[in-house]
Amino acid sequence: MAGRREKNGQSFRGSRITVAIAIGVLLGCVFAFLYPHGFFNPAPNRPFSNSDVQVLILDLKKNAELQKQVREITEKLRLAEQGKDHAQKQFMVLGEQHKAGPFGTVKGLRTSPTVIPDESVNPRLAKILEEVALQKELIVALANSNVKSMLEVWFTSIKKVDEGMDTVARTGGNHAVSGLKFRILREFLQLGYSVLLSDVDIVYLQNPFDHLYRDSDVESMTDGHNNMTAYGYNDVFDEPAMGWARYAHTMRIWVYNSGFFYIRPTMPSIELLDRVADRLSRQTAWDQAVFNEELYFPSHPGYVGLHAAAKRTMDFYLFMNSKVLFKTVRKDPNLRKLKPVIVHVNYHPNKLPRMKAVVEFYVNGKKDALEPFPDGSE
Ligand SMILES: *[C@@H]1O[C@H](CO)[C@@H](O)[C@H](O)[C@H]1NC(C)=O
Repeated sequence: MAGRREKNGQSFRGSRITVAIAIGVLLGCVFAFLYPHGFFNPAPNRPFSNSDVQVLILDLKKNAELQKQVREITEKLRLAEQGKDHAQKQFMVLGEQHKAGPFGTVKGLRTSPTVIPDESVNPRLAKILEEVALQKELIVALANSNVKSMLEVWFTSIKKVDEGMDTVARTGGNHAVSGLKFRILREFLQLGYSVLLSDVDIVYLQNPFDHLYRDSDVESMTDGHNNMTAYGYNDVFDEPAMGWARYAHTMRIWVYNSGFFYIRPTMPSIELLDRVADRLSRQTAWDQAVFNEELYFPSHPGYVGLHAAAKRTMDFYLFMNSKVLFKTVRKDPNLRKLKPVIVHVNYHPNKLPRMKAVVEFYVNGKKDALEPFPDGSE
């Protein structure tokens, strides 16, 4: 792969990018004609509609590691395939059985093994990805021509943070409407790729792959805006009539942002995507709400929850939502000095001007670029 990259000169890479964008825009025009409202309304994250979607796949360079893991796990999985019993299979997949060690030394399995890549699910995509992906990781974005301007800012910002990058575009298939995003993602995972899913109302300021932990099935940016809301807290509910037991403790965490998350190709990840897609195909719901419910709700009578999905909340100052930026960061002399990895304009409807202002502020050093905007929408 490295050799191939050397051979691909900058100009060649540049032309491929242009071609990809052109394909995206062309198809987008057709779809914009058929579906004038597109899928990208001011309300962020509303379900995608079917045909007006293209997938743009970008690959950035990053550190390895997964490959070795894949090989080790592959062998174990092959052995596991021979077993019949489900639990036995899982046990073999997860590895040796151990006695628990002494106090303080015990850790649960942190990183689920990756699945065996299955190219038969989409040989054509498999071939494309084999050519463009370096470490089995990709950025995937769904977009159409209605968001062309945003896509340009998005894309330019990515190009800036990583030179070595190839792109391809493809159209979405005939999938159930609102679950489309999750069904598309499933294919990438099945092919053995980790995906950084990205909305296009996002500005890239650093290479995100340098800031991932890769220790969880899902690693997501948060809609939270401080330590409590982003990372979880004990929210005490007060019911004075209960007297001695008036305080009930509840667990709260602000939702993960389903417009920017890194998902590893594991069984729990794929199960999560399937569960979300399935629910979205049967009911009208906000995909972000469904994504969080499936990820967090435990099993209970009448419901079997998602087992064993490990989750990690991204640093909300590095993977910054626009509420954090406009309500807090821009007013704080110290926080202003931080350089986020991305800024997601998810909390505001006038996305393009705010995205441009983010570029002015962080890239071009224009200190007052963020000032014209109110904290919220007007
Ligand atoms: C938030 O948590 C970080 C460490 O996780 C800590 O350094 C920081 O001081 C905390 N901020 C506040 C306002 O408590």
